[in-house]
Amino acid sequence: EDPALLAAFEARVANDEFIEPKDWMPEAYRRTLTRQISQHAHSEIVGMLPEGNWLTRAPSLKRKAILLAKIQDEGGHGLYLYCAAETLGTSREQMIEALHAGKAKYSTIFNYPTLNWADIGAIGWLVDGAAIMNQVPLQRTSYGPYARAMVRVCKEESFHQRQGYDLLLEMMKGTPEQRAMVQDAMNRWWWPSLMMFGPPDDNSPNSAQSIRWRIKRETNDELRQKFVDATVPQAELLGITVPDPDLQWNEERGHYDFGAIDWNEFYAVVRGEGPVARERMKARRAAWDEGAWVREAAAAWEARQAARRAA
Ligand code: ACO
Repeated sequence: EDPALLAAFEARVANDEFIEPKDWMPEAYRRTLTRQISQHAHSEIVGMLPEGNWLTRAPSLKRKAILLAKIQDEGGHGLYLYCAAETLGTSREQMIEALHAGKAKYSTIFNYPTLNWADIGAIGWLVDGAAIMNQVPLQRTSYGPYARAMVRVCKEESFHQRQGYDLLLEMMKGTPEQRAMVQDAMNRWWWPSLMMFGPPDDNSPNSAQSIRWRIKRETNDELRQKFVDATVPQAELLGITVPDPDLQWNEERGHYDFGAIDWNEFYAVVRGEGPVARERMKARRAAWDEGAWVREAAAAWEARQAARRAA
């Protein structure tokens, strides 16, 4: 790579300029962005599945309409993100093939099961809450199309987070059984939500370079700490317990201290050994196959329009 081009690129990044698709960029920058944005896109699409399971069992029309809208939003996020990744030179088909072949990563969080209705609230509150914490700084990521996609994604995620919290608040006003369901969902989703931020900084192979290139604006551990600090008071307001006996406010640091994360579990889930990883991929492939007629119809329509325009 031409050292003068590289120096000019690094200067632009250091100056907080956006890099655009046709600009020169180092191959490693292109590669790591394609990696991160495509994993992010896959997470949005796979993330539709655990919630989709509950659409027919939503307890009221209002909750069903909210859940349906939220799942459609996630589909939209996946599409903006695939488009952003495509501007780097990999086609959507290639990315989706990699996902379906089990070669691409997506967030560990979506390999856990949704067992009761409170899980839908916990996903909104905790999972989307963690996603926002990670995505707000990505609005200032150095690659223009990714940063711009994040603006709308973050607005929609904040609605998702609030609907989840609202759902749990309502359940907490219900019967002892309903309150127990909320606590049970918290017990199962808390630690996996902390794992969403990725491995600790001293064991995160991509972080140093991504921070230097301003792809990531904050580290995994910094964002995880911010999430804990923001979420613990929300749990208190809700009236549930955070399942961590070591959780404690640290006056000196001005942050909560929290217990050790089970990184063995995290790496096992990353390797595809999550509790429902196989079901998720099976459902994803089935959705793809059963939707083939929609893609074919859209392509036929497009071809007909093009023929008409040419005539
Ligand atoms: N689930 C699955 N894989 C993960 C996770 C996770 N929670 N966290 C880290 N990893 C993987 C990384 O992808 C990387 O693998 P790779 O090198 O084969 O690609 C490896 O573990 C090491 O991690 P890092 O070096 O820390 O990787 P990176 O710098 O990419 O940081 C992070 C990981 C924080 C997830 C980053 O990629 C990111 O910010 N991505 C955008 C946000 C996102 O994808 N959110 C998806 C969930 S939110 C939602 O969809 C609702």
